[in-house]
Amino acid sequence: MNSEKNAPIGVFDSGVGGLTVAREIMRNLPDERIVYFGDTARVPYGSKSKATVLRYSRQIVRFLKTQKVKAIVVACNTASALALDTIEEEIDLPILGVVRPGASVAVQATHNKKIGVIATESTIHSNLYQTLIQREDPEITVYGKACPLFVPLVEEGWTKDSITVEVAKRYLAELLEKDIDTLIMGCTHYPLLRTLLRRILGEQVTLVNPAYETSQALKRMLEELGLENDTHCPAGEKYQFYASDTVEKFNAFANSILPYDIKTTKQIPIEE
Ligand code: SIN
Repeated sequence: MNSEKNAPIGVFDSGVGGLTVAREIMRNLPDERIVYFGDTARVPYGSKSKATVLRYSRQIVRFLKTQKVKAIVVACNTASALALDTIEEEIDLPILGVVRPGASVAVQATHNKKIGVIATESTIHSNLYQTLIQREDPEITVYGKACPLFVPLVEEGWTKDSITVEVAKRYLAELLEKDIDTLIMGCTHYPLLRTLLRRILGEQVTLVNPAYETSQALKRMLEELGLENDTHCPAGEKYQFYASDTVEKFNAFANSILPYDIKTTKQIPIEE
């Protein structure tokens, strides 16, 4: 195991959505270095089979290991739901997904024991959020809703567009009818729709952002393992980004959500 404290954290996602997780790690663990990989050539994962998502995830983990990362964050909900349990058993690095931290916080947040989960089709069909939540509290009812149009709308940058509002109203209607008091944004892209979702849901529903919770879980994990970075890293060398497709769109998206300008993303082929 590469236990060097100053080694980077590997973070990966099916595309740009996982940058919401990288952003929370940057905010909450400011001393940590990050190597981010976005599989932009093969996004979305949310409509793909478990076998495919597992194969893609294994390839990316192999790549991140070549970058000598000290730990890996699976920033994609779909990969966390479909591939993490297998990969966990295969690698000799600490690894963390976004589903468990999000599920735990939702359990603490709900008062009426009715939690909604919005996510990709594959994440909803995996039932992982439901399983983890009910393992912690069997009295909680979990209502899942696949929202497949959200990823392309966010990728398009339509996070405030009236079309997105209409789509969100349709998706959320049945969850609101169930009287949920907590909603997990169970896809990396969805925190970018937070303002819009808040407007439709009202103030009475707690929105859970697994990206933030994951950064907190990562912090605890590094502390427990004695792996926190204790050396200063110059700003320009701290974060490295890789994408499997052309970098222009990736950089534009990254620059719209990250607190500093990115120009150095590298495109790398990922094994088919
Ligand atoms: C996707 O690739 O379909 C979205 C990523 C996610 O599930 O978080």
